[in-house]
Amino acid sequence: MTTIKACLFDLDGVIVDTAVYHYKAWKRLANQLGFDFTEEQNEKLKGVSRTRSLELILQWGGISKSPAEQEELATLKNTWYVDMISHMTPAEILPGAKEFLVTCRAAGLKTALGSASKNSMMILEKVNIVDLFDAVIDGNKVTKAKPDPEVFLKGAKAVGVTPAECVVFEDAIAGVEAAIAGGMKAVGIGSPDVLGAANLVVSGLNEMNLEKLKSL
Ligand code: BG6
Ligand code: MG
Repeated sequence: MTTIKACLFDLDGVIVDTAVYHYKAWKRLANQLGFDFTEEQNEKLKGVSRTRSLELILQWGGISKSPAEQEELATLKNTWYVDMISHMTPAEILPGAKEFLVTCRAAGLKTALGSASKNSMMILEKVNIVDLFDAVIDGNKVTKAKPDPEVFLKGAKAVGVTPAECVVFEDAIAGVEAAIAGGMKAVGIGSPDVLGAANLVVSGLNEMNLEKLKSL
């Protein structure tokens, strides 16, 4: 059994619940284009890059846009999204997330962020947990979206450990797949029905502890 030396965390849906802000901003964009989409459809956007999310939404609305127009629409959505996350406070950290990060670090484990979001740093600053990460790998530092393991492999490298020594915490199927593809252990945050491929599924980081980590 390999010893775990690092924990790699997705951001949206694992440490903070920004999904609601993404949803509101995408919904506003769709409404402006003359259609709407459901919360169920919104589930398909979790863990998915900004560009790919827009492609899916335009498909749902039966709308086609040129690459230049798509760029403009994605930027408009991001302006609205950034406006909302600029008001975030530490109270929006999900239950147990900060405590588990502190526990990991106190046990000598490295911690890294592995998120698709290009707004990761701003969110970490707003909720005041930048110092709890040894490395931050976000959407600005990767070229391939999850389920490609790039974001987590870069995280492992940044903290000086091998992939086999890492555990990834993820709320999206694509993220769990990325962890497995990278040769890492995966803990799903959410429902076992959705994240069954993970080594363990918990409802939130408040259910995690070092014993569970060691037993993976
Ligand atoms: C992921 C979210 O973390 O980041 C997705 O789950 C989002 O919903 C993606 O589209 C990209 O985020 P951003 O902030 O760069 O638009
Ligand atoms: Mg997520």
